Amino acid sequence: MLENSNFEIEKVINHGNSAIVFEATEKDTKKSYAIKKSLPNPICGNYFFHNEIKIMKLITPHLNCVKFFDHWEYNKHIVLQIELCDGTLLDLIYGGNISISNVWHILLDIGFGIEHIHRQNVVHLDLKPENILVSNNRFKIGDFGLALRLPVDTDDPELHVGDRKYVALEVLEDNIISKPADVFSFGMIILHIISTGDLPNRGDNWLKIRNGDLSQFTFKVDSQDLINLTKGMIKKEIKERQTIKEIIIHIIKFIYEQI
Ligand SMILES: Nc1ncnc2c1ncn2[C@@H]1O[C@H](COP(=O)(O)OP(=O)(O)OP(=O)(O)O)[C@@H](O)[C@H]1O
Ligand SMILES: [Mg+2]
Repeated sequence: MLENSNFEIEKVINHGNSAIVFEATEKDTKKSYAIKKSLPNPICGNYFFHNEIKIMKLITPHLNCVKFFDHWEYNKHIVLQIELCDGTLLDLIYGGNISISNVWHILLDIGFGIEHIHRQNVVHLDLKPENILVSNNRFKIGDFGLALRLPVDTDDPELHVGDRKYVALEVLEDNIISKPADVFSFGMIILHIISTGDLPNRGDNWLKIRNGDLSQFTFKVDSQDLINLTKGMIKKEIKERQTIKEIIIHIIKFIYEQI
């Protein structure tokens, strides 16, 4: 199934459009890994898998980025061997298992992960709860399939935008690819965590959010500080958004004041 007899598949973790992710045990070491196998797309083939390998090799190891170990190819599939995690941030949101006291710690982990990739001039471009993995209560950036190294050639026909629910207007409408695009998506992740209901992926409500109007949301938290931080991250004007470093400082200050 993986054309690599050194792995025993334990179970399917997730089966999507472009990939199947398995939990597997390496026979020699008895260590567990996540094995992500491509399901080649008739139009773009394995383009995003090749891209993910390129980016994961480029990014130096970090506690808040999923670790990449190896890759191989067989038939028309590409297989990635990556650090096994316990689940995703989306599972936690749907499980209703996030309290206001741990939300700041989650945000700090995600912030550190983004800051690490931005420092290496990489933008993720598909930040969303299903791409934030959880392992031993640590949060890690995963799924680098759409990530790009800056500066980006915006004439590239392979340029793909991430999930509309989380994507910034300038990415979708003007093809502007820059670090603030990730800050916007991070802000949308926080909005998802702290508000009730689902995020829209098109229509009037979608546009209202991108014009700074959050009147459609009811917040589950009463921390005005957190709501203001979120609003600052999803500002329409790119230059008005805080950098990931400033956001991290804000989060650390908050955590420090609670001690
Ligand atoms: N390292 C991992 N450990 C545990 N689960 C993982 C891991 N990597 C991915 N998964 C699970 O598999 C899902 C899909 O993985 P990933 O986001 O990397 O692929 P994808 O390219 O988005 O695939 P698809 O096109 O199917 O959405 C994740 O949302 C998560 O549920
Ligand atoms: Mg994904």
